[in-house]
Formats: sequence, C-alpha cells, structure tokens
Amino acid sequence: MEKREELYAGKAKSVYRTDDPERFVLVFRDDTSAFDGEKKEQLNRKGMVNNRFNAFIMEKLEAAGVPTHFEGLLSPTESLVKKLDMIPVECVVRNVSAGSLCRRLGVEEGLNLNPPTFELFLKNDELHDPMVNESLAVSFSWATADELAKMKELTYQVNDVLKSLFDDAGMLLVDYKLEFGRSGGQIVLGDEFSPDGCRIWDKETRKKMDKDRFRQGLGDVIETYEEVGRRLGIQFD
Ligand code: C5P
Repeated sequence: MEKREELYAGKAKSVYRTDDPERFVLVFRDDTSAFDGEKKEQLNRKGMVNNRFNAFIMEKLEAAGVPTHFEGLLSPTESLVKKLDMIPVECVVRNVSAGSLCRRLGVEEGLNLNPPTFELFLKNDELHDPMVNESLAVSFSWATADELAKMKELTYQVNDVLKSLFDDAGMLLVDYKLEFGRSGGQIVLGDEFSPDGCRIWDKETRKKMDKDRFRQGLGDVIETYEEVGRRLGIQFD
C-alpha cells in the first residue's frame, strides 16, 4: 500500500489517498482546537496518543460486532481505514449531563440521564454544528430513515460496550460523538474515538480526563489522555 496525496485536512486529522481507491490513510496530528477553531494549540504527542487510543477502541467495537472503517495501525500517527461515503450528521449519546446540553437546557452538570439521550447535529462549521432531528435529516436527504435507525442502534451498542469498558477501569463515560458512513450498502462507524470526542470522568473524584481539560484550560491534557489509555491497558511509545 502506497500513501499518495492529501485529500482533506480537518482540524486534528488529515486524510490521504492511497494506491487502493477503497482505502485511505488517516493521519492524527498534534493540532488541537476547540470552540470551532477559535482556540488552537499544538500538543506534543497528541497525534500518537489519539491514533493508538482510537485503534484500541475501534478493535474493541469491531470485536463486539460494530462495523468500523478501521483496518490497522500503519505508524505511531497513521492508520489505514476503509473509504466511506460520510453522512454529514453527528450522533451524540449522553449518560450524564455536561457541555452543550447544560447550556441549552439550563441544567446542572453531572445529572444521570436514564435512559441515555441521543442527539443529532449537522456537521457544518460555519453554522457551528446546529442540532437537528431525524425529520430534518430525512427531508434534506442527509440520510434515510433506515440509515438513521441503524446509526442510532449502533450508537447505543457502542455505549453498552464502552460504558462497561471505562467503568471496569474506574472511569465514567459521560458522553461522546460518533460519525458514520456508507460502505457496500452497510452503515459503518467512521472518524475516530479518542478523548478529543468524548467526555470521561474519574468515577470517584469526577476529575475531567478528556478534551474539556483543553477547552477549560485545566492543564496536563495529554498526560491525562495517556492516563486514561493506561487504565484501559493501552501501551504508548
Ligand atoms: O458540546 P457537546 O456537549 O454537545 O458535546 C457532546 C460530546 O460530543 C462531547 O464529548 C464532545 O467532545 C463531542 N463532540 C465532538 N465534536 C463535535 C461536537 C461534540 O467530538 N463537533
């Protein structure tokens, strides 16, 4: 497999073509951004940590029967993935209230949400990823009703797998965002799962162990990501 030209550079990852039209290389960079790119920094080792973290989680999900685009690690900061036709809608599940939910509804952080909530957001930086719903997604042909039902089913399946994985390691999976795409008529999990796209708290102390450390200027961002990984049994370089 040969890495070819860059196809797309996102805020923290880049996608490269390969000599195989059905496979891309995902490069995890050290760039870190929050608040729609308003706050930006380079955090040493983040690309490596998130690449390994994502590989570990994707393998766990695949083993539990969730189809993912992940095919394997290529280097400390690169992974091989299947090409997907991406659906421009983000799926967010929340087990505990935090972040935009608290701002939107005026509720306090840390409330248990039972059953966990499921929200959809349109991927659109200029509009700051507005919240949407299934009716809008179908009417605007972002996805079919069947595709949305599958995305919801898989998003909750991911919650079952990961909630217990984090719980066993002394952590609480507060919320997370997933993105899906189409491949060979199937709905497949794409993008990444890392502490950049979820909230994780220590179960006892409720210490924040995710990107809120960067958003809120709490410090030790990558050291804490590595601690999350180590508790899960991930080996970093
Ligand atoms: O900001 P909000 O509270 O809606 O985020 C919910 C979860 O989804 C958080 O874990 C956040 O990190 C993640 N998220 C993300 N990318 C976005 C929006 C949210 O990773 N564009």
